[in-house]
Amino acid sequence: MAALEAARRRTELLTDAVDEADLLAQHSPLMSPLVWDLAHIGSQEDLWLVREAGGRPGLRPDLDHVYDAFRTPRADRPALPLLSPEQARAYLAAVREQTADVLATVDTSPEQPDRLLAGAFVFGMLAQHEQQHDETMLATHQLRSGPPVLDAPAPPPAPADAALLPSEVHIPGGPFTMGTSTEPWALDNELPAHQVDVPGFWLDTVPVTNGAYAEFIAAGGYDDPVWWTPEGWAHVREAGLEAPLFWERDGEGWTRRVFGRTEPVAADEPVVHVCWYEADAYARWAGRRLPTEAEWEKAARHDPATGRSRRYPWGDAEPGPEHANLGQRHLRPAPAGSYPQGAAPSGARQLLGDVWEWTSSDFAPYPGFAAFPYKEYSEVFFGPDYKVLRGGAFGVSPVVARGTFRNWDYPIRRQIFAGFRTARDEEPAERQADPAPGAGRG
Ligand SMILES: [Fe+2]
Repeated sequence: MAALEAARRRTELLTDAVDEADLLAQHSPLMSPLVWDLAHIGSQEDLWLVREAGGRPGLRPDLDHVYDAFRTPRADRPALPLLSPEQARAYLAAVREQTADVLATVDTSPEQPDRLLAGAFVFGMLAQHEQQHDETMLATHQLRSGPPVLDAPAPPPAPADAALLPSEVHIPGGPFTMGTSTEPWALDNELPAHQVDVPGFWLDTVPVTNGAYAEFIAAGGYDDPVWWTPEGWAHVREAGLEAPLFWERDGEGWTRRVFGRTEPVAADEPVVHVCWYEADAYARWAGRRLPTEAEWEKAARHDPATGRSRRYPWGDAEPGPEHANLGQRHLRPAPAGSYPQGAAPSGARQLLGDVWEWTSSDFAPYPGFAAFPYKEYSEVFFGPDYKVLRGGAFGVSPVVARGTFRNWDYPIRRQIFAGFRTARDEEPAERQADPAPGAGRG
């Protein structure tokens, strides 16, 4: 209930910040009107918690088709017979009352044979669903024009050692456990845990910064097809891309718009709002490449001292403000090198929080994957059309940001809070075996 209530407070913050007309408006064809997301949150809770898990008739089954994300693309949603903001708020409150009642009456013990209820999975699934729509609504806020309506303190400045960090960290070769079979609220695409052998590689210690990315632009990176895949080059030409989304030229430098405010681009912050093609081109220009999804997860979770995979880069403790920039506490990424207490065993920082990180991998099922509870959650997206993002951005809730969580999107998408870091293969002379579990621990 606490996870559901935290999600609801954030939903209210994002939707109470604007007036009725703004809730009904479509701020971008890429996004739904905010009032669609709002009622969709209630409709999914009505369907999965009240009806499927609770075995009750539900409040508004007649709304299922209006708020079915697969039925109507985002651009067409303003034409649907949507609930008004007032009706949507009343609907969400009424559904939540039933949810509380369901929670009070069902058995959520891990031994419960109904997989929806075991370990309260369906409650976790809905809390994550609402938080993910909150993140989508945050992206809508970033796209809307007009005066700023959201406010949050800036993240703390980078720690003193940030400037002294090595540019890359080494991840020794060897097998590690990818995915999970034990996280109670993991979604189907994170299951099951399985061994993956990852050759040794080097990974950027921190995400690529605005300053580094601006060098790529200044060096003519957007004008030279040599850095781009053929699809990326066709897209960058056709879409006229010349900088991350929301950047504007300002003399020799750049400004960018951040939730309605225009400011100079901060050189030491991770770059955000770049598409996969831009990330891939930058990496090639830098003489490097994007990490694979398995490399990213190994860097984030594998503990060479024990041989096991951690829940989070820093260990198994739930994310706190000292570990990562998550949960919309701030409205921007923290400077590169922040959160030393959130570092992975390899020394890499900010793997969770700040910006989603594009990987080179297509979204694919793990060996032994089984769709649950419905194949539209993950299965219909598997294949070469979608690239995997890992790590979670500043607007991602801690309830979502597990070390195993997988996100995916089209390689042209830029309105999401996505950045990246780069990697390179290990040279033969740099090869070091992964120490045996327990080695070197007195
Ligand atoms: Fe949804």
